[in-house]
Amino acid sequence: MSAIGANLRGKFIVFDGTEGSGKSTQARLLRDAILKEGTVEVALVRDPGTTRLGERIRQIVLDPENAEMAMRCEMLLYMAARAQMMAETIAPALQSGNLVICDRFVSSTLAYQLGGDGLTADEIRRVAQVATRGIAPDLTLLLDLPAQQSLARVGREKDRIEQRPMEYHEQVRKNYLAQAAADPAHFRVIDAMREPEAIHADALKALTEIAR
Ligand code: TMP
Repeated sequence: MSAIGANLRGKFIVFDGTEGSGKSTQARLLRDAILKEGTVEVALVRDPGTTRLGERIRQIVLDPENAEMAMRCEMLLYMAARAQMMAETIAPALQSGNLVICDRFVSSTLAYQLGGDGLTADEIRRVAQVATRGIAPDLTLLLDLPAQQSLARVGREKDRIEQRPMEYHEQVRKNYLAQAAADPAHFRVIDAMREPEAIHADALKALTEIAR
């Protein structure tokens, strides 16, 4: 691989997809590959989470005991965690010229919360604009796999969202693919049914394109 890191300064990359799609593994593999070049600093973050407050919000949204949570509350909690991560971590890192690699982002809300209690994409985008100050990823790498495989890969006890029925998760996958189809300049769909090395190679190739 020729060095691409220098051209990724100040870029914002997101890995997204359903549970068990390997986002976190791929985010780490990418970070390690770029760091090895030594040309750019990398901030690796996860959404929801990363900040002290974000991790606390994460516990609240994922806790199966919070069964009464209304969909609009759920959506706003994800956005609140994101707003804190943007202010505390992502915006300063981008401003310093670092490469930001984020595990999930607004595209997750547009996949998981879309249609819940009638939430529209426009409503979610308007809240996202407030939460993120309009800072959007340069590229989202969508790791795609069927819902059945996706849930089968969850090795631990299922959280509040993972416990939802299969039809919900099938719809989430469709919502992701629809976002990618509507905005091909900012999304790459990567087949996540393959070995991590093959997925990593595709991710690097996609980054080479935007690093030009
Ligand atoms: P994780 O699988 O990346 O740890 O994410 C935690 C869960 O939160 C996962 O089930 C997907 C869900 N989620 C949403 O429902 N909406 C969102 O906006 C985000 C970021 C995650």
